[in-house]
Parts: sequence; structure tokens; C-alpha cells
Amino acid sequence: MKYELVIKNGIIVTASDMVEADIGIQNGKVQRIYRGLIGSEEIDAGGSYIIPGGVDPHVHIEMDVGDIRTTDDFESGSIAAVFGGTTTFIDFVEPMDGETLQDALTKRRAQADGRTVIDYGLHMTIVDDKPKTLAEIPEIVKEGVRSFKTYLTYPGFRLEDDQFIRVLEKITRSDGMALCHAENHAAIEYLRNKMSNNGQTAPIYHARSRPAATEIEAITRAIALAEVTGAPLYIVHVTTADGARAIKEGRARGIQVWGETCPQYLILTEKELERQEFEGAKFVCSPPLRTEIDNQGLWQALREGTLSTIGTDHCPFNYIGQKEMGRNNFTKIPGGIPGIEPRLALMHEFGVRRGLITVNQWVELCSTNPARIFGLYPRKGSLLPGADADIVIFDPAIQTTLSVGNLHECVDYTPYEGIAVTGLPMTVLQRGRVLIREREFVAPKGTGQFLRR
Ligand code: URP
Ligand code: ZN
Ligand code: ZN
Repeated sequence: MKYELVIKNGIIVTASDMVEADIGIQNGKVQRIYRGLIGSEEIDAGGSYIIPGGVDPHVHIEMDVGDIRTTDDFESGSIAAVFGGTTTFIDFVEPMDGETLQDALTKRRAQADGRTVIDYGLHMTIVDDKPKTLAEIPEIVKEGVRSFKTYLTYPGFRLEDDQFIRVLEKITRSDGMALCHAENHAAIEYLRNKMSNNGQTAPIYHARSRPAATEIEAITRAIALAEVTGAPLYIVHVTTADGARAIKEGRARGIQVWGETCPQYLILTEKELERQEFEGAKFVCSPPLRTEIDNQGLWQALREGTLSTIGTDHCPFNYIGQKEMGRNNFTKIPGGIPGIEPRLALMHEFGVRRGLITVNQWVELCSTNPARIFGLYPRKGSLLPGADADIVIFDPAIQTTLSVGNLHECVDYTPYEGIAVTGLPMTVLQRGRVLIREREFVAPKGTGQFLRR
């Protein structure tokens, strides 16, 4: 048989295997993996890795925070993602006060549809336990949005424990899954007020007002409440070794709990927030960057399977004009850092090349597990026959230095400025169509599809 497209001369790497073979693609789907396949069109992978497209389970594109908005829109954010080897992302719906979940979902889809260049899904954010909100949850599941984000901190977003319990119960009865941003609100408010009143206004106090204990307590509590309600729970952006340990212990008790971490929590530390001339503001995110010991503990948790996914929590705010809003007061610095593009390269450099995870774990963490956990597998996150031909040809030997000037994120800095990496996505396909060819965007824009999960 002659396939529409064949990718040849690569090393196919999945979450479980590594094999030298060709991939035959037909009608946008992976059809066969074998040697000596023939295609009407052929791409020579030149000995590079051929991996399933990355799935980023946690991004904030065009997110409004007060009067400001994250700087990537669905077009620029998705272009940056695909340059980085991500072919699917999952963003959030954040209903405004009084808005129904359905209206907010319709609005969010209108923002993304026809704009994003890669496929995308959405998580729904739940900020109250009003009967009408809870009643909508099964309807939202029917719309293909099965995952519901909750916050235990942030004024206007956070749920008290009794509310969280009611929300968890409704989500699990609706066959959904809860996501949780776990930080102890009362402790953080106490420390923020104390530090502000003492004139401790520099960016480093952002980290000091959210110490590790505030995350560890909240993760432990969220897992206990998931245990009580029987709800499956996904903890977003775990930053501490002890937070990961709480997940491990929860799993050992039989609770369905998964944990995500992000490259910034594996590679950077809170020392970045001490940079001179307010540069530390570039590294303000919540939960904050931690210590080298936490970095190591998180790598260990990834290696042993306690943490299951790598998201980016891509939340880009410009340094000029946005981060600067907190020049005299760290509590006014918009929280969040960019990173949708260099996720695969960073995890390859700091994880695979340094021997902290295997190349199969790299694929599993960045692609297969997010797809499995969020109901996209095996269509996404795999190269099984019938899967979408979302494929990355990743050259593990090419060297570059990450810099705001060579990334495609629409933001005026990168927290990874100056970091040298070996290994980059060269060619990226979605549903059998080449989007990036040898690091050049070659496709029509706006063809990403909404993924019902
Ligand atoms: O500081 C962060 N991470 N901002 C994005 C929103 C969130 O908490 O994930
Ligand atoms: Zn969060
Ligand atoms: Zn986030």
C-alpha cells in the first residue's frame, strides 16, 4: 500500500517503546508503524526522535486578571506551543460573576475557535457552590468539558472547605474530575499583610509569604476531602517535595489522585526572585518557585510516577507595563510566568540528558499521561494505529540558547533567558498536516479543533 504520507528514518519513541521504523499516515491518522513503508509524500526524519505531539494540560491564554490580560492570544499562544512540539493544550473557562457556566463556555469557545492553530480542550472553573452552578456541571460534562478547576486560595475564586466538598461531590456524581490549586489561603493572607505592613515589598516577599507549608497543608487537605467524597482529584502545579509525598501517601491509601508539576518548579528556584532592579518580578507565580531540594524531590517524584504530568501553567504577563505594576508592592505583581514553548526542550535537557528521567518518561509526562488523564487517549498522546497523526520530529542533538528573541511567545521576556539546550522540535504535524517544517510555520492558521472529552 502507498500511504498519503510516510515519515522515514527516525527513532519512534513512545511512553513504552523505542524502535527504528517508519510511520504511515492516511486521512490524518497513524495507520501503520513498520519498516520500508512507501508514501506519496515522504519526510526524512534523519535519525531524529519521532514522538507523539505534546499535550499541555495547563495554560492561561487570553486570561483576564482584573484590568489586564495575559499577552498571548489563541493564535500567538498556539503558534508558540507548536514551535515547542505541543499539538494539544487545555485552557480554562473562567465564568464572570453571575454568568452561567454554559454562557462562559460559549464565549470562551468563540475566542478560541478559528484562532488556534492546534487542537485544544477546556477545563471549567468553579468558584462557588450555588445550586444553579452545581446543577450545570452535568450539562458542561455533556459539552465535552469533564474537568473542573477549583482554587483553595485567591479572593473571588477560592472555595471554603464546605463548598469544596459540595463541588467535589457534584463533580464525581457527574462523572467529571476535579483539578485543585492547593494553597492555604488564611496563612498566605496573614503573611502577606504582615510583610506589607512591615514595608517588605520586594518580589522575594511573594515567595516568603507563600511558604512550602501553605502548599503542603492544602494538598493534604484537598486529598483528604477527595477521600471523603470519593472524587478523583488532580493537583495542579505541585512545587514541593512534601506536596508530592502527600500525593504518594494518598495513592497508597487508594485515593485517585494525580499530580502535575511544571518546568519552572524543576529548574528554577526562589533565588530568582532576589534579582536586582525588580527583575525578580519576572519569576513571580503562585505557588512560588522553591528550593533546590524541592527541585530534586520533584524530579524523584516524576521518576517514580508519583507526579504524572508536566504542564506549563503558561501565564504570560509583560515585564514592562504589567509586572511593573508591583514595583512598590509585591502583592500587585500579576502572578504567572510564560513557558508554553520550551516545555519539551527543557524537559529533554534537564530531565533526559541529565539522566533524571528516561526518554520514554519524557514522552509519557509531556504527552501520553496528560492525554490519558484528561480523556484524550489514544487519539492524542499516542502513535497507535487510529491515533491522530500529531507527530513531532525532535532532533536530540541540535543546540540552541533559549531567549525571548528566538521564542514565539508574545511576551517581552522568558524566565529561561540564556539557558542552553540540546534538542529541539524541528517538524511538527497535526492530524497528518505539517504545521512546522524545519522550524518554519508553513500551515494556514486557525485550523485547531475543540476536543470534546
Ligand atoms: O501564578 C500563576 N500560576 N498564575 C496562573 C494562575 C494559576 O494559579 O494557575
Ligand atoms: Zn494555579
Ligand atoms: Zn494555572
